Amino acid sequence: MEALEQKLWSSYLELTPLIKKVKKVLSLSDNNAFNDHIAFRSLNYNGYGIKRLCTSLYHHGYEVKNEYYFQKKKLKAVHLENKFNPNRPKIFISELLLNEFSPFLKNTLLNSVCQNELKDQELLTAGRTWNVKYTVYKRLLEESEYAAWIYIHGYRVNHFTLNVNALNNLSIEQLCFKFKQANIELNESGTTVKGSSSLGLKQASTMANSVLVKFEDLKKPINIPSCYVEFAERFKIDGDLFNGFLVQSADKIFESTNHAA
Ligand code: NI
Repeated sequence: MEALEQKLWSSYLELTPLIKKVKKVLSLSDNNAFNDHIAFRSLNYNGYGIKRLCTSLYHHGYEVKNEYYFQKKKLKAVHLENKFNPNRPKIFISELLLNEFSPFLKNTLLNSVCQNELKDQELLTAGRTWNVKYTVYKRLLEESEYAAWIYIHGYRVNHFTLNVNALNNLSIEQLCFKFKQANIELNESGTTVKGSSSLGLKQASTMANSVLVKFEDLKKPINIPSCYVEFAERFKIDGDLFNGFLVQSADKIFESTNHAA
C-alpha cells in the first residue's frame, strides 16, 4: 500500500475491527487486495464537499472520471482514478445536498461538522471533534441516515473495497457464501449481490461494524453503526474492464450503515 492508503487504512481499521475477520475467512495476510475503491461521505457546503476533497486528492495523482446522482437519498457523487497508476484504488466521494433538507438538519450539520475549518491533510481522517446528543442523532436519522452518520463520525473513510478479481478464481457469490458460513452479516437490501456481469460490476457488502458512542444526553455509551467492508467484482464490457459505478447498486450499498433490523 502507498502512504496515502496506509494512512486511510489505519483510520478505517479503528472503526472496523470486522476487517480482521474478513481477512481470516479469505486467508489474506496483507491488505493489498482491498484496492478496488475507498469511499468518503461529505456535505455539499462550501469547503466541505466533493470539490474540496477532489482538490486535496489531485496532488496525489487523482482525477475525476464520472459523476452520479442519487435522487431519493439526495446525494451527488463522483469517482476518481489515479492517472499514474491504475492499480491504486479508485476513490468514490459522495456529498449530501444540504439545501434539500430541513433547516434543522442543515443547521445541525453546519454547527457541528462545519464549525472548524479543516486543513487539507486532515480532510480525509479528521473524524469527529464535537460533542453529540442522542435526541439530535435520532431526529437526523428520521430524515437521512447519511446525515446521522456524518454527525457521529465526521470526515473519515466510510469503507474500503476488496477487489474480488485479485482473488484466485473466487466469484463474489462464493465469497458471500463463505462470509455467511462465518456468520458475517451481509447487506441484503434488494439482493445480496448487486449488479451483474453484463453491466460490468457486481458488488456486495457487510453490514457496518458498530462502535460505542458517548452522547451528552445519555448516561451510558451505546453502539452505533460505523464502517463496513465492500466487495467488487468487475467484468469486461466490449473488451475493457468496467471501472465505473452503478447508481442502482450503490444506492443499496449506502444502506450498509443502517441499524440492523
Ligand atoms: Ni463503495
